[in-house]
Amino acid sequence: MPRALLLLLVLAAPLARGDECPADRAPVETHEARLHRDLLCDYSPDFRPVRDHTTPVTVKVRFALKYISFDSQEETFTIHSWVALSWTDQFLGWEPAQYGGIAETQFESHEIWTPRLALFNADASKFNMDSFYVTCLATSAGAVTCVPALAHHAVCRAALRRWPYDRQNCTLFFGSWMHTGEQVNFTFYRNQPVVLDEAQDGPGWRLLTVAHRRLPGNYNNATYPMLKYTFVLQRESAGPAALVVAPAAAVALLTLLGPLLDARRPARLGLACFTLLAHFTFLSEIGYNLPKHSADTPVLLLFARDSMVLSLCGVAAALAGAALRGRGGAGRGGGAAPGWLRAAVRLTARSPARYVVFTEWAAPGDDHKPLEADLTAADAAAAAADDDWAQFADLFNSFVFFTTLLVYIILLCWYIPYSD
Ligand SMILES: *[C@@H]1O[C@H](CO)[C@@H](O)[C@H](O)[C@H]1NC(C)=O
Ligand SMILES: *[C@@H]1O[C@H](CO)[C@@H](O)[C@H](O)[C@H]1NC(C)=O
Ligand SMILES: *[C@@H]1O[C@H](CO)[C@@H](O)[C@H](O)[C@H]1NC(C)=O
Repeated sequence: MPRALLLLLVLAAPLARGDECPADRAPVETHEARLHRDLLCDYSPDFRPVRDHTTPVTVKVRFALKYISFDSQEETFTIHSWVALSWTDQFLGWEPAQYGGIAETQFESHEIWTPRLALFNADASKFNMDSFYVTCLATSAGAVTCVPALAHHAVCRAALRRWPYDRQNCTLFFGSWMHTGEQVNFTFYRNQPVVLDEAQDGPGWRLLTVAHRRLPGNYNNATYPMLKYTFVLQRESAGPAALVVAPAAAVALLTLLGPLLDARRPARLGLACFTLLAHFTFLSEIGYNLPKHSADTPVLLLFARDSMVLSLCGVAAALAGAALRGRGGAGRGGGAAPGWLRAAVRLTARSPARYVVFTEWAAPGDDHKPLEADLTAADAAAAAADDDWAQFADLFNSFVFFTTLLVYIILLCWYIPYSD
């Protein structure tokens, strides 16, 4: 069956060729065909369509944005848009009355001269095309408009300090690659140079505004005008914030909770070690989805780093607190507290600081006091020493807690109000 089909195709091929027209088909020349032939004979699409070479071709540009996307890891910014380009072609005017009243006609862009709008900060690893192939519209006055759908890939440095609440400014510079402004003069459309009505946001980003400005680019008696578009993007932060901001607050709270526990309890050391481990896990977790190779490091990463150091101090404080509580215990071979330590304890007990020194919750059954009657002088001295050590441990613990709290407050004040 396929072979028969092939044979049929081969046999039918000469018939399908349009060489032979039916005899009754006389050539009809329409107004439009005549117009095209008259305009395009001896037309060269290679040169600027001006009779006097000192006349600039003014090209008006309008971007109708369709889609934007930004990759903060690769630092590339892509816009998909319909780019309306409009200029006057001095060789494409006609008298409508001579062509049956045709006022407008279409040309393929390769048949006529078209301007080449180059993106200067293009991402050279992607395909950026400054020529295009579309159908263009020409009026009898010689005004030509082409609206190619183009994608432009630009390089855009990411500013991630406020990640995941960051905003990005991506600037695109357009102009002519080789023509001066005296030859091809790119300008904006007078009204609506940028149309955002149908713009769709790419994954993870919301387009806030687009600012546009024309840079005249005066240089050596010539101008090299550039059209500058600044796109301001806001990250859709709900997802990343849920992934990292709440866990960051959780590990910080854990670090802060540690000193509230009784130093004699194994739970204290356990919690401190767990907190440290949680920091490591958190850091490696955010390391995956956080773009860390940017111009500036996200403050969240710095906060997690500092918080990890604090939690390490928390482990040390738990060990030190346990050691202090263990010192001087009656029957545990402890000694009397040194004088400076007792002085510090007395001083605190008398100053207003005593209100903020919290005493640890005594573990039940651990330090029930012996009956007064049973106390010998040595026992009393040992108990007093024990008491000094215990009070000093309380003091130390409170100091650790308030220092941690203070450091966290300083960190938050340092990192959070940073504005760009
Ligand atoms: C980003 O662009 C906006 C609007 O043009 C401007 O106000 C702001 O200063 C820019 N920010 C940076 C960091 O360039
Ligand atoms: C190009 O256009 C701009 C603004 O439309 C105008 O100010 C400038 O004079 C023009 N340049 C030339 C060389 O015509
Ligand atoms: C710029 O123009 C002036 C006056 O026409 C001329 O003297 C000068 O040499 C020109 N400069 C350059 C770099 O062409």
